Amino acid sequence: MDNPWWHSAVVYQIYPRSFADADGDGMGDLRGIIDHLDHIAGLGVDVVWLSPIYPSPQDDNGYDISDYQDIEPVFGTLADFDELLAGIHDRGMKLVMDLVVNHSSDEHPWFAESRLSKDSPKRDWYWWRPAREGFEPGTPGAEPTNWGSVFGGSAWEYDPATGEYYLHIFSRKQPDLNWENPAVRDAVYEMMNWWLDRGVDGFRMDVIDHISKDVSLPDGAVAPGSLYGQGAPHYMHGPRNHEFLHEMHERVFAGREALLTVGEMPGVTVEEAVKYTDPARGEVDMVFNFDHVWVDRGADPWQLYPLQLTKLKGIFARWQAGLREKGWNSLYWNNHDQPRVVSRYGDDSPEWRERSAKMLGGVLHLHRGTPYVYQGEELGMTNYPFGTIADFRDIEALGHYAQATEHEGRSPEEVLTVLRARSRDNARTPMQWDSSAQAGFTTGTPWLAVNPNHKEINAAAAVADPDSVYHFYRRLIALRHDEPAVVYGDFTMLMPADERLYAYTRRHGSTELLVIGNFTGEPVTAEVPDAGAWQELVLTNAPAPENWVLEPWQLVVYRRQVTP
Ligand code: GLC
Repeated sequence: MDNPWWHSAVVYQIYPRSFADADGDGMGDLRGIIDHLDHIAGLGVDVVWLSPIYPSPQDDNGYDISDYQDIEPVFGTLADFDELLAGIHDRGMKLVMDLVVNHSSDEHPWFAESRLSKDSPKRDWYWWRPAREGFEPGTPGAEPTNWGSVFGGSAWEYDPATGEYYLHIFSRKQPDLNWENPAVRDAVYEMMNWWLDRGVDGFRMDVIDHISKDVSLPDGAVAPGSLYGQGAPHYMHGPRNHEFLHEMHERVFAGREALLTVGEMPGVTVEEAVKYTDPARGEVDMVFNFDHVWVDRGADPWQLYPLQLTKLKGIFARWQAGLREKGWNSLYWNNHDQPRVVSRYGDDSPEWRERSAKMLGGVLHLHRGTPYVYQGEELGMTNYPFGTIADFRDIEALGHYAQATEHEGRSPEEVLTVLRARSRDNARTPMQWDSSAQAGFTTGTPWLAVNPNHKEINAAAAVADPDSVYHFYRRLIALRHDEPAVVYGDFTMLMPADERLYAYTRRHGSTELLVIGNFTGEPVTAEVPDAGAWQELVLTNAPAPENWVLEPWQLVVYRRQVTP
């Protein structure tokens, strides 16, 4: 197999709303991104992925699209977009767009037409169903299935205009498109081709494992204490998901060069991921799985569970082994849906923030797969000190809070404790450019508060300090580009039962790398087999260890030559 370029690439994700605001309206925009391209290029990344920038009522911050072929006016114009694309290409990088086609906005003309009447030509573009038999339409319990929506409440919205319900796995302003209808698929492929013809280099596909549903739409099991049934088993990895992605590949990607496609797939198993990413099957290049960011979940959604390092290592070991022969991994800690990793799996206190942020970056990036860096991760940005529910903006946080406190008997404080640690808004606070008011993000009032720690944690300070998290990420990315063992080495997990150290080797030809990260705030001695053979320390975030005693949160990367 030829080695595709994205095997050695690193992707940088921008959440445009929170990246940089050039016109002072408190919301990031394309001009703001254009102004900061050198920051991104300076890291050495190969690809920029933009979260959605299309016209949108912004019910879910742009993941509710009302026009797939234009730019949201708050963000700019198509001319700004072309300038941004050229600026990215001029710097030798590529641009990947977010593709959100499991659902559209309810304000998309397709849906407006669909809801008009039961015999609208676009009726069947969405999932319309009558009330449950024996129930008065629009009354409690009459929803066609018992499914809950991901953001709280029922997954069905009653539409009095025609007396039927439409399905929305996410908010009521995100009706699910009906992929069973070939006309829907044609329209999506046409739109994708339009963007590729304009020069974009690929797509990150939003919840793309939700597009095929069990068309019989059965009720879901109801967990104890929960209001709704679980629809996920009936709408995730449905019977036609592989078929649809293969068709998309044939109709959009085949014959085009140098693209990158990545499918976001909550709940995907290793076995399914092999099928989705096996190049011979022609579906997508890689998928985002969620196992390692769901590892600190437990039976009770409103309780915080500490990280168990052995579980985390078990997950990575399984994915590394599963995609060894066929397919490809993606690697991420952070994105716009996850809390900040330094606050979650590291230590964001002033003493250990930078040290642990670097260790986490190093442990992740040196696995086999394509790493993704989310804006601010390269600065070691942290979670936000949220107070009350009024501080949150995310539709998911607000929806879950309402459902849990109003209908499921939870106290506001227990819900807030979890939201403060896990809410998506932690990732969405404005990018911290400098120490000035509003962190240099905007001259106006930011749509979501800037983290008060921007006085210490900001890009200007990080770029000026050769010891910063930023420069550590830069070295890490350079190592991937320069050392084939990082890209292609075989992966072996060491010390799987150790709760404190994360250790593995990568071996490629005559080169072997040893990576060890200390996941604790205490010094830990590593029991390394054949310890004397490791002489070349390639990368670390603390003084070189003596006798294999790793300092708190220390990462070490050694290299040696072996007989192949
Ligand atoms: C994906 C996005 C998330 C969004 C959801 C619905 O999970 O990453 O931000 O809310 O899909 O589009």
